[in-house]
Amino acid sequence: MKVVALNGSPHGDAGHTALILAPFLEGMKAAGAEVKVFETRAMTVLPCRGEYNCWFRTPGRCFQQDDMQTLLPELLTAHVLVLATPLYVDGMTGPLKMVVDRMIPLGEPKIVYREDHCRHPGHSDVRDWKLALVSNCGFWELDNFDALVGHVRAIAKNLDATFAGALLRPHGPAFKAMLDARAPVQNVRDAARDAGRQLIENGSIAPETLSIVSRPLLPRDQYVAIANQHIAQRVQQATQTSTD
Ligand SMILES: Cc1cc2nc3c(=O)[nH]c(=O)nc-3n(C[C@H](O)[C@H](O)[C@H](O)COP(=O)(O)O)c2cc1C
Repeated sequence: MKVVALNGSPHGDAGHTALILAPFLEGMKAAGAEVKVFETRAMTVLPCRGEYNCWFRTPGRCFQQDDMQTLLPELLTAHVLVLATPLYVDGMTGPLKMVVDRMIPLGEPKIVYREDHCRHPGHSDVRDWKLALVSNCGFWELDNFDALVGHVRAIAKNLDATFAGALLRPHGPAFKAMLDARAPVQNVRDAARDAGRQLIENGSIAPETLSIVSRPLLPRDQYVAIANQHIAQRVQQATQTSTD
């Protein structure tokens, strides 16, 4: 089973998104999957130009010479696709969306009905993908992810993939701080690892496992107070530096 994970965080493997993505992928590897990770911060991917050359002039291939030339063949042989992103203005990061837009060569230039809805048929080489989402965000509430989850569910339908679930970590910066402070939050990482194992072994992730990944880590008022204190310190430091 081959997994391709796209990490759209500008902080890559040092970011808060990676704190959930890494154990999720570890769980998949432990269950025997071959995992390839692509970080958008290390990739050059130009925006789709919308000229449909990949459908008409050079079927299945984009004429733009950038890192999609490496990624597209990997996607063709993948069984699981993971989209990992911090929440940016209620959605995925721009670089990750640019990569998703550039997956258009994986669709056929034709409109068909799927579940009584207009779609493009998938490329004949594309597997029956399972699509999983990993995200973290700065605000406290879980419902901050609603728009992003709706978007990724729609992407799954668009790509003729099966939505396999979302590993969502609200108040993500608190998770990092609590891990560093050795607070008892290890079960969140363990659940992310277990989710990876379940996806490879069973083809799905138990809702109870996903709820542990998303569980509240501290009361909202406490989080907001700590976050505001941290922000005020950063503002003060920046003001001092600029007047030094
Ligand atoms: C441009 C920008 C937009 C953001 N938008 C949101 C948002 O809409 N909701 C939210 O809860 N957090 C938002 N955040 C906070 C990030 O999701 C949060 O800091 C996250 O932990 C960053 O993850 P990373 O370390 O993987 O980059 C935003 C951050 C930036 C820089």
